[in-house]
Amino acid sequence: MKYHRLVENAGKPMGFWGSLMIRSMNKGHSELTDWALSYLDFENGSVILDVGCGGGRTIRKLCGRVGSGKVYGIDYSELCVKKARKLNHKNVLCRKAVISQASVSQLPFEDEKFDFVTAVETYYFWENKLSDLKEILRTLKTGGRLLLVFEMVKDESDPDKWSRVEKSLGIEAVGREEMEDMLFRAGYHNIRAHFNKKHGWMCLTAVRE
Ligand SMILES: C[S@@+](CC[C@H](N)C(=O)[O-])C[C@H]1O[C@@H](n2cnc3c(N)ncnc32)[C@H](O)[C@@H]1O
Repeated sequence: MKYHRLVENAGKPMGFWGSLMIRSMNKGHSELTDWALSYLDFENGSVILDVGCGGGRTIRKLCGRVGSGKVYGIDYSELCVKKARKLNHKNVLCRKAVISQASVSQLPFEDEKFDFVTAVETYYFWENKLSDLKEILRTLKTGGRLLLVFEMVKDESDPDKWSRVEKSLGIEAVGREEMEDMLFRAGYHNIRAHFNKKHGWMCLTAVRE
């Protein structure tokens, strides 16, 4: 029962169980996020968007890597926005971090704003995956890079690995080929998949040309 109440709050955290889930995600996704961020070359002054920012720990990590740059975060959960702002309150105060409630389907940003867009453990929940990837592409500068990060990766040697979570949440684990194909169809270039064999993680980087 507790497991179910917690897990059902991964897709759009709300209320008491949502707060617990946010705390658990901030902790549980930290190592995964550090691993995936190592595939991006941040520069002093980089402008970054974290999509589906959850409790805001990725935003905090990014603020530490962009020098005079700026980090935006969006999440469609009101509770996540509140918690992410709290975790990043110093950077929010000086407007180095700007965190808003919004959907990936309609990003409240002009074209070609970002050097990087990151999305950690959120893609599975997007309702219009192809058009959402195109919406992100719109906001990337030419030469800008998207990073998609996944813990729920299909495993041919263990097809039921994620079935409990998939059933609880109505989402699906992802595979390399389908993700490369989606990114290609959405208009990205230089698509690269990276794997962490120890943990079974995958991340993909893709460029707007
Ligand atoms: C599993 S959590 C991951 C949160 C955070 N990225 C992390 O790694 O801890 C998924 C997050 O994506 C957000 N999300 C899901 N679908 C979204 C959408 N269509 N637009 C914006 N945020 C979304 C959820 O509210 C939730 O905070």
